[in-house]
Amino acid sequence: MAELVIEATGLRKEFRSRKGTRVAVHDLDLAVPAGGVHGFLGPNGSGKTTTIRMLLGLARATRGEMRLFGQQVPAHLPAVIDRVGAVVESPKFSPNFTGRRNLLLLARTIGVPDAQVDRAVETVGLTGRDRDRYKSYSLGMKQRLAIAATLLKDPQLLILDEPTNGLDPAGIREIRETIRDLGERGVTVLLSSHILAEVQQVCTSATIIGNGRLLASGRVDDLIGSAGASAYVVEVPDPAPAGEALAAAGLVATPAPDGLRVETDDPALVTRTLGEAGIWLTALTPQRRDLESVFLELTAADTLGHGEGAR
Ligand SMILES: Nc1ncnc2c1ncn2[C@@H]1O[C@H](COP(=O)(O)OP(=O)(O)OP(=O)(O)O)[C@@H](O)[C@H]1O
Ligand SMILES: [Mg+2]
Repeated sequence: MAELVIEATGLRKEFRSRKGTRVAVHDLDLAVPAGGVHGFLGPNGSGKTTTIRMLLGLARATRGEMRLFGQQVPAHLPAVIDRVGAVVESPKFSPNFTGRRNLLLLARTIGVPDAQVDRAVETVGLTGRDRDRYKSYSLGMKQRLAIAATLLKDPQLLILDEPTNGLDPAGIREIRETIRDLGERGVTVLLSSHILAEVQQVCTSATIIGNGRLLASGRVDDLIGSAGASAYVVEVPDPAPAGEALAAAGLVATPAPDGLRVETDDPALVTRTLGEAGIWLTALTPQRRDLESVFLELTAADTLGHGEGAR
């Protein structure tokens, strides 16, 4: 079995208030293998930040066990924290200092050589802008500086909580490329997000949660492959008789903007059924499954199943 960099079992977090107890994380199991980018995915309020805060010792778990690099945390956090970089909340940088000066100050505080600053700046693609003042930076540049700050101590595990929040598509792409580079260099990245389309291109594996509960976990290829049957959209001159013919053959066909959507993984069955009914289709388009559709199906089913169950 591959080495696990992050491992949590039965992780639970309850928030108590006068109004009662809210269970933010429900007995969650998490397993993040070494190397590559692991997506930590769930809708708003599903418990991603809470889980990450517990892993980093920033919040106390109500119950459950957590390990980083095989060491029990929070008890042994001091033994592993030097191998971990994290961006959970926006770090505080001095607005009037340049990005570089901010990083140099930080490097000296944590006792790493100045040369690390150059490496970090280069890795996040801030070379050329690192001598500009922090306050002149765009949101995306600020976000990249935050990642650069975590890279100073050369972490083996990088935990990023929604690093693309508030960025425009170009900013998102830049952060994504930075993250992909890090993953390819052998850093294990835990990347949380509620927007699937943004992360599916960089993740090799993922954990999907909803209402604080585990919905699915594994390699992205397997998650996409295992989640239900695929579908085809057929274009025909007249959808009504085509729909009847498909239904008679036991196929589920529903109206789609371009014709009929047929739930099946067997396109030959569709063409044969229609051909035998004397209907010639003009196009047959496979509906490509992606992580986003899997995520939407899982989280929609979860909402139906639990509703306000997290409370
Ligand atoms: N300090 C707190 N006190 C009470 N409830 C909290 C606290 N922090 C988080 N929660 C609740 O725990 C649940 C999970 O919140 P969390 O911030 O972990 O979600 P998230 O997945 O990070 O969401 P988002 O995508 O919006 O960042 C929510 O219902 C939230 O209201
Ligand atoms: Mg969050």
